[in-house]
Amino acid sequence: MNGPSPIRTAFNRAHAYDQQAMIQAQIAEKLALGLAQVPPKEKLYGLELGCGTGFLSRLWLERLPHTHLLLSDIAPAMVLRTQANLQSYPQNTLKFAVMDAEAPCLNTAFDLIAASMVFQWFHHPAASVANLLNLLAPSGRLLFATLGPDTFQEWRSLCENHQIPCGLHHYPGADFWFDLATKQKMSLELSEEHIPETYPSTLDFLKRLKAIGAETPAPNHQPAPAGKLRRLLVPPGGIPTPLTVTHHVFFGTFINHRKTGKP
Ligand SMILES: C[S@@+](CC[C@H](N)C(=O)[O-])C[C@H]1O[C@@H](n2cnc3c(N)ncnc32)[C@H](O)[C@@H]1O
Repeated sequence: MNGPSPIRTAFNRAHAYDQQAMIQAQIAEKLALGLAQVPPKEKLYGLELGCGTGFLSRLWLERLPHTHLLLSDIAPAMVLRTQANLQSYPQNTLKFAVMDAEAPCLNTAFDLIAASMVFQWFHHPAASVANLLNLLAPSGRLLFATLGPDTFQEWRSLCENHQIPCGLHHYPGADFWFDLATKQKMSLELSEEHIPETYPSTLDFLKRLKAIGAETPAPNHQPAPAGKLRRLLVPPGGIPTPLTVTHHVFFGTFINHRKTGKP
């Protein structure tokens, strides 16, 4: 994890994440339903990637309290926020690390790896997730929630209508995840949801992205000229109109049925 990372900087600054990331909390709740399917084991070794402030971590420790859990995030401030939020849980089985999940420095095998709303930030999702799958123990599982291609289509259309670049990342579709599972010789259970959220105005939507550290645009994004952006944000008559945006979310579980290490 070398060099400047705008993603890390943005999440470090997200002081209000806990209060403002309501959709992410809801998504972590849904992803945590998959914890009930994890086969019981006396000692379960777990790795959480991009733990944020610990929405999923808390549910994990409530449902599988015997887990020896390594909690990691690329943003040091996020790791500290999780650490603070987990103070009431037994500490002897918890470890914390600042770690880029695209370059994990680990040689342990894990029974359970989870990442809620993290993979959409990866620069090289195919190679990086394949690498993470190689960290699974036999019969191990990787649970994830990530954004799909329909995410924020409303914002994309609005930008197209105003002829300005929208800055949205490219989020892969279901085929990408199934191809990856096939290549890695693992099974994949995948479901998807479209979760709408309405903001009083477009400006409120953009402010929320910033508050939760999610404002980093796609690489090579050219910001819109200020005048054009203002015309989009301040509608004729100056009265803001509500904006509904949709989170398109994939919930997936990879299961490692391999007998030996790599595919
Ligand atoms: C949308 S937040 C989700 C946080 C938490 N999992 C949750 O559900 O609330 C994304 C998190 O992923 C982290 N992140 C982004 N890219 C990462 C990477 N390459 N490696 C590890 N963490 C990353 C961010 O710092 C941030 O904490």
